[in-house]
Amino acid sequence: MRISSISLAAVTVVLFLAAASCSCQAQDVARTPPMGWNSWNYFAEKVDDTGVRAAADALVASGMKDAGYVYVNIDDTWEGQRDANGVLHSNAKFPDMKALAGYVHSKGLKLGIYSSPGPRTCAGYEGSFGHEEQDAQLYASWSIDYLKYDLCSFIPEVMEKRAPNDPAAQMRLMHAAYDKMAKALKATGRPIVFSLCQYGFDAVWEWAPSVGGNLWRTTGDIAPNMYSIYANMSLQAGLGSYAGPGHWNDPDMLEVGNGDLTLAENRAHFSMWAMLAAPLLAGNDLPHMKPDIRDILTNRDVIAIDQDTLGQQGSRVYVDGEVEVWTRHLAGGALALAVLNVGDTRYSTHPFHLTLSRLGLHGPQNARDLWTGKEIELTEGMPLELTIHDVLLVRIAAPK
Ligand code: GLA
Repeated sequence: MRISSISLAAVTVVLFLAAASCSCQAQDVARTPPMGWNSWNYFAEKVDDTGVRAAADALVASGMKDAGYVYVNIDDTWEGQRDANGVLHSNAKFPDMKALAGYVHSKGLKLGIYSSPGPRTCAGYEGSFGHEEQDAQLYASWSIDYLKYDLCSFIPEVMEKRAPNDPAAQMRLMHAAYDKMAKALKATGRPIVFSLCQYGFDAVWEWAPSVGGNLWRTTGDIAPNMYSIYANMSLQAGLGSYAGPGHWNDPDMLEVGNGDLTLAENRAHFSMWAMLAAPLLAGNDLPHMKPDIRDILTNRDVIAIDQDTLGQQGSRVYVDGEVEVWTRHLAGGALALAVLNVGDTRYSTHPFHLTLSRLGLHGPQNARDLWTGKEIELTEGMPLELTIHDVLLVRIAAPK
């Protein structure tokens, strides 16, 4: 009894000190990489209230909600005009944002929204420049749970105008803009995930947590093809030490189910985002997705890699020609291993040979293939057949 009350007091003191010393946005959000859906990659400017409700319904009906997807995020083009008091209103596509939030919450989901520190968003709609506190209060009054804050017009309208020919000063203006919105969100008292979107400028991973970022884009915009997916993935190599519970590198939203991606490419994309502890924000047309896409997005073994509580991002251990080998350390000493064929013309005419010793593994390893669900044995030098852009993803519960 006595021991537990002492430890309780100690925990309370530690929590109090942590809260007092940290300028972070919200310590209790994004303990694992955020999961959900975002409107942009498929719907872009066609997003509307009906479509967002349909996406929320589909998250539930498809089993994605049960698999961990929570956030329903409205991207750009919801914004209307400001009234005489500077209060922003949603446009005709979104007649009642508070009612929409109520609907999404009634499904056990959360609602996200989008803005820019500049006067205009990337699509030319109203941004938050000069109205940061007012907009943060507005989001809180609507019961918004997530904000993606996209640099866009802040570059030409503020950075370049206020600090012409001084890139370092421009970057400081950008840091301050994100800090300003982080503080405005914090002042609302509502836990709101803060997502920085400024394409990786000024090594964002080094300073985003100090301005309250829960996740930050490290790259330009993703597109539904393997070149783009691979480029964004590659840029995460070496950034692992900057990610952890509450703060994540964001190689951009998922394209699973979009464009002409093959099933192998969809699997590889999803697997690698899990290896990277990346946010899993589906970006496809949920109400009309095919069963094989739903099966990829709801693969719980792969999601468990992404959501692993240790929060340690994977790293590229070695590259052999067109085959890359990545590992990710998991809670309890387990290891995830991904072998990715990035070659455009490397067919499975001849196998790739896996070198376990280069991964610090010695002798045969019992593993679970997370796409077939089968238990397999990995051995030194074993041949692996991978078709173009396909992946082998395994979990080794007790690596030796
Ligand atoms: C930028 C972002 C995208 C999307 C669009 C919306 O390009 O990087 O993810 O939000 O703006 O206009």
